Amino acid sequence: MSAGQPLRVAVLVSGRGSNLQALIDARDAGTLPIELVLVASDKVAAQGLRRAEAAGIATLALAPRSYPTRAAFDRELFARIAAHAPDLIVLAGFMRILDGAVLAPWQGRIINIHPSLLPKYPGLHTHERALAAGDAEHGSSVHFVTAELDGGPLIAQARIAIESGDTPDALAQRLLPHEHRLLVACIDLIARRRLALREGRVMLDGQALPHPLQLAAGATRLA
Ligand code: GAR
Repeated sequence: MSAGQPLRVAVLVSGRGSNLQALIDARDAGTLPIELVLVASDKVAAQGLRRAEAAGIATLALAPRSYPTRAAFDRELFARIAAHAPDLIVLAGFMRILDGAVLAPWQGRIINIHPSLLPKYPGLHTHERALAAGDAEHGSSVHFVTAELDGGPLIAQARIAIESGDTPDALAQRLLPHEHRLLVACIDLIARRRLALREGRVMLDGQALPHPLQLAAGATRLA
């Protein structure tokens, strides 16, 4: 990628695609210097694909059951993504575990948004687990993707208070707008060439981050 050019971004979705929509809206508002080169999904019926079509973005739907193995699906998916030459791949509600060998060449160029304050609650049912643990706060994390599920270097987090009477659905719904701002803010730093992964460390303006950036309540920028 070269400085000054919009960052070429491919987005992977499995469902609703509201995070994708946040990226489309920020791009359209002229506040996020990216080009959305592809939206890909493992679900032909994903609403995220319809959002991409409506925004005039190239789409790709591949059905995992058409491939003999998980790794074969991942290899095909990533070969098809690579053909669009993205600078960055964004997992935005992509609900599959990816093959480590397929991910390896993309280290530092693939990020994920996960609905918990990682390292708490990797995997599924994060809202239920935060409530069951009696946590006072919950949140969302954006991290670089490695072969370890939800385990790669953290970029930034958004936090919300858990309120008495919260249900998993209520918590998820209240968190969602924070997720949208968090994802846009992280990609903004990458697109402006201020944030990158170097030798396993997240670097911001040339300095290793001592801990994940925190998105202040209501803020749209991290730094
Ligand atoms: C978001 O809450 C995101 O954090 C979560 O899926 C939702 C996608 O919503 N991701 C994961 O759980 C990944 N393990 P969206 O489809 O409306 O963007």
